Amino acid sequence: MCGIVAYVGPKQAYPILIKGLRRLEYRGYDSAGICMLNDVLNIYKCRGKVADLEEFVKDKHLTGTIGMAHTRWATHGEPNVVNAHPHFSENKSVAIIHNGIIENYASLRSELINRGYHFSSDTDTEVLVHLIEDILIHEKVPLEEAVRIALNQVIGAYAIVVLSKKSPDKIIAARKGSPLVVGIGKEEFFVASDATPIIEYTNNVVFLNDGEIAIIKRNKMLRIKTVGNKEETPYIQKLELSLSAIEKGGYDHFMLKEIFEQPRSIRDSMRGRLHMDQGLVTLGGIRDYEQKLLNAKRIIISACGTSWHAGLVGEYLLEDLARIPVEVEYSSEFRYRNPVLSEDDVVIVISQSGETADTLAAIELAKAKGATVLGICNVVGSSIARATDGGVYTHAGPEIGVASTKAFTAQVAVLTLLALLLAQRKGTIPVSRFRTILGELNNIPVKVEQVLKLNNQVKEIANLYKDVTNSLYLGRGYNFPVALEGALKLKEISYIHAEGYPAAEMKHGPIALIDEQMPVIVIATRKGSYEKVISNIQEVKARKGKIIAIINEGDVAVKKLADQYIEIPETEEMLVPMLATVPLQLLSYYIAVIRGCNVDQPRNLAKSVTVE
Ligand code: M6R
Repeated sequence: MCGIVAYVGPKQAYPILIKGLRRLEYRGYDSAGICMLNDVLNIYKCRGKVADLEEFVKDKHLTGTIGMAHTRWATHGEPNVVNAHPHFSENKSVAIIHNGIIENYASLRSELINRGYHFSSDTDTEVLVHLIEDILIHEKVPLEEAVRIALNQVIGAYAIVVLSKKSPDKIIAARKGSPLVVGIGKEEFFVASDATPIIEYTNNVVFLNDGEIAIIKRNKMLRIKTVGNKEETPYIQKLELSLSAIEKGGYDHFMLKEIFEQPRSIRDSMRGRLHMDQGLVTLGGIRDYEQKLLNAKRIIISACGTSWHAGLVGEYLLEDLARIPVEVEYSSEFRYRNPVLSEDDVVIVISQSGETADTLAAIELAKAKGATVLGICNVVGSSIARATDGGVYTHAGPEIGVASTKAFTAQVAVLTLLALLLAQRKGTIPVSRFRTILGELNNIPVKVEQVLKLNNQVKEIANLYKDVTNSLYLGRGYNFPVALEGALKLKEISYIHAEGYPAAEMKHGPIALIDEQMPVIVIATRKGSYEKVISNIQEVKARKGKIIAIINEGDVAVKKLADQYIEIPETEEMLVPMLATVPLQLLSYYIAVIRGCNVDQPRNLAKSVTVE
């Protein structure tokens, strides 16, 4: 939610800032703004996307080698020009950009109003910039100290960058709960919400920790202080992120590129972990916690959205293979529900971004109650990756499209490895069965490649259903989370109402929705409750619903019943989600494209939900 970028160095800042904003636009795109620091602070902002800002500033004064920019996802105050960032202080000597929520903004605001400050926006952010100015005026301290004092009065989450016209060579940045990275180049510094705006210029970065303030002065070394006024030594890391990984690479949309990357991203997530020759799975990041997992009375998986769907597949896998009881929780519910947790429980959080606020809060809660917390994250160095005791990275590569695709299949691949590892250690499945599943898992990337060859066929089906207003996704067992994920993909990018349901539950309510207008997408692969699913299809047909079936190659029975079908290769029942999800991603993608929707930046959404 909200993207932040800042620069100081010998180059012109504007091109770097605007390019950075484009890379961060996935984080929010309802308004954008820029601030250039010359003798004065020049702020330009507008409603809409980064492209609108570029258009708006065409004839503006944008020279300068220090500046900052912001792309917004509205929390406090509607998306409009006044609420867009950066925000000025009362006397226009200080400016701020902010990602997060200041929870005590209302009380701070009334205090500041009493002291004569005027607020021009409805945002929570504006209190912070007025507060900093107030401290600068009354306490006559340097900018970094004023920011530090102000942050001590603030409750909530923030990643901020502050510029002051009285400190023309200085950037002050700070974080608590929202991510911030400092890039260190040759005589230049970058600050950004993630590394994508930085990677083109340097791979030396410092990930700020919660409660840290970065003091960046032109031509000086980076300094870090805590809000408690303790000097810290910056920990400089070398990032392994390529520029090509964050560009579209010839695809029309990031989402399509990411769908097509799945053979690679699944393979990368299993590389060095699945050892076919030795008949073995290893997961280095949780080696120290294997015994804890094997002895766990219960595993609790906590996540949001698509990651929660992957967690559901994980539940089935871990119970099926390793015979460990598993519960899957929405982080947003779990964190407020006073759950019964003990030291014998292991909590596994799943997150692509590693920044989801509710999942971070779930980690804190679980830790406070004594549970061991492990993570399955995609973004290296993210807040969740750092907050967990141990974990396993999915190596899906940067996921930019707001609709999560390759992260899901990579998460399921890692969960399958985890379940197999624990099953092998516990001896809950015979060796021959373990080997068979391992072999099949190893083949999944090749089978995903086969599924991707159905691209044109899926596009044709999308054309037939582009105008529907409702849809139902049905699946049983391992295919139930696939139904949920298919429905989520369709609704978030095409704005068509879609419901995912366990196929047998349909008759307990949703069947009332079925008429000749209702497309029902059924995952009807041969293993599992195949016959039962056929009966569910019959129930839909009897009410004149349209059936789009995901079936296995060579299927006869469902093919006869379906209006349209998509044939995917056969595999182990527990591995079907990694194959069956792919045509559903493509179906949503093409329906959204045909309807003219903004696939990579759907309305009202943002890639990482760093507010609760
Ligand atoms: O980064 P996370 O995996 O923690 O994000 C969780 C959800 O916000 C995310 O999966 C969201 O539901 C996606 N838009 C789904 O496509």
